[in-house]
Amino acid sequence: MQPVRIAPSILSADFAKLGEEVRAIDAAGADWIHIDVMDGHFVPNITIGPAVVKALRPHTAKPFDVHLMISPVDAYLDAFAEAGADCITVHPEAGPHVHRTVQHVKSLGKRAGVVLNPATPAKMLDYLIDTVDLVLVMSVNPGFGGQHFIDSQLKKIAAIRKMIDMTGRAIDLEVDGGIDPVHARRCIEAGADALVAGTAVFRGGPEAYAANIAALRGDPARLG
Ligand code: DX5
Ligand code: ZN
Repeated sequence: MQPVRIAPSILSADFAKLGEEVRAIDAAGADWIHIDVMDGHFVPNITIGPAVVKALRPHTAKPFDVHLMISPVDAYLDAFAEAGADCITVHPEAGPHVHRTVQHVKSLGKRAGVVLNPATPAKMLDYLIDTVDLVLVMSVNPGFGGQHFIDSQLKKIAAIRKMIDMTGRAIDLEVDGGIDPVHARRCIEAGADALVAGTAVFRGGPEAYAANIAALRGDPARLG
C-alpha cells in the first residue's frame, strides 16, 4: 500500500474565489486536487467544465484528480486532458464501453481511474483492473457534498484492496464521500490509500485547512 494521499474536493470551496482556494489547500498539504464535474444529467447537480479546470491549472503544481460525473463521457475526455487533468476518473455507467473509455484516457497520456457507485459491485473491475491506475469507491451516491458515509462500502474497499494486491501493480484505491477523520481511519484500515474530502477539509475556512487535512491523515502531531 502507498502512503495515504488526501484529495480535497473543491466542490466545498468558495466558488467565488476558486484559484485562491486551490492555492490555500495546496499550501495546507493537499496531495491532489479533486475536481467534481457534474452535468445535471448523470447526477442531479451541475458544477464545472474544462474551462474552469484550465483556469485553475496555473494555481498549483499538484495533480488534478478529475472525477467525471457526466454522460455520455467520451466526448469530453480530450477537453479535460487538454485543460490540465492528471488523472481522469469515469463511471462505467457513463458510456457504452468503459474499457474503451479507459484506453482512450491512457492514450491521452493521463492516468485513468474507474469509479464504483455504492450499488456497483467490485466484480465490475474483473476485466478492468489490469488497465486502470486508480479505483475510486463512492461512499455516497454521487451528486452532492455533505452526505453521510455509507458503511457497506468498507467491505467493498477491503475486497478491492485484495484485487489490487493480486495485480502487483501500484493502483491507487481512493474513497469519496462523507469522509471525516473517523471514517478516514476506517477506510485506511480497510485498505484505502487515497481519500477525497470536501466538507471535512473546507470547514472552518483557510486557517483550518492544514489541521483538517492533518486530521484526515491521522497525524496526531498536527491535530490543531
Ligand atoms: C460527490 C463528490 C464528492 C463530494 C465529497 O458526488 O464526488 O467528491 O464532493 O464531499 P464530502 O466530503 O462533503 O462528502
Ligand atoms: Zn468526487
